[in-house]
Amino acid sequence: MKKIHIHDKEFRLFIPSARIQRAVLKMARQLNKDLKGKDVIFLGVLNGCYMFIADLSRHLTIPCQISFVKLASYTASSTTGEVYDLIGINEDLSNRTVVILEDIIDTGITIEHILSAVQSYHPAEVRIATLFFKKEACKPGFRPDYVGIEIPAQFIVGYGLDYNRFGRNFPDVYIESESKKR
Ligand code: IMP
Ligand code: MG
Repeated sequence: MKKIHIHDKEFRLFIPSARIQRAVLKMARQLNKDLKGKDVIFLGVLNGCYMFIADLSRHLTIPCQISFVKLASYTASSTTGEVYDLIGINEDLSNRTVVILEDIIDTGITIEHILSAVQSYHPAEVRIATLFFKKEACKPGFRPDYVGIEIPAQFIVGYGLDYNRFGRNFPDVYIESESKKR
């Protein structure tokens, strides 16, 4: 589909599924290489990460645990600046390699919140992996350890990402139609 409608907005195709799958496979291979021999726990940030983790985890060949946290900071299509814990950390993270898996990092507020919560469990190390990264929207100097695809600071939906709770189900990623072409 070239165009989709969600609520009041029209979105156009932006990143096709095949491009996403290539980025996911590339990241999984890098993680398999970098994390070999470590005691690894992946912590996915719900809801948006579910499709990404489902695909990524099928390419992971290292022994690892996969768990989730659930937070919310968005209303409709802009961040509220506040982060709410809906499901907290229920795993023992001490002396382990924790890899936080995000669907997208925008301002970096959510990841900062999760990072400080994770650090309080005294892990051996923490790494951050995100499928999409809005570099221009994020705090200067902040760079996740693993980035799938860098995108401009514009609103996208699909592949797990929602606009006001709808649109997660699409295998491709769409961008607001009035947004500038890349
Ligand atoms: P941050 O705290 O500003 O980095 O935003 C992170 C969270 O906001 C992500 O985990 C997403 O759930 C949501 N988010 C940020 N940008 C988008 C977007 O373009 N589309 C849909 N959700 C987004
Ligand atoms: Mg998210």
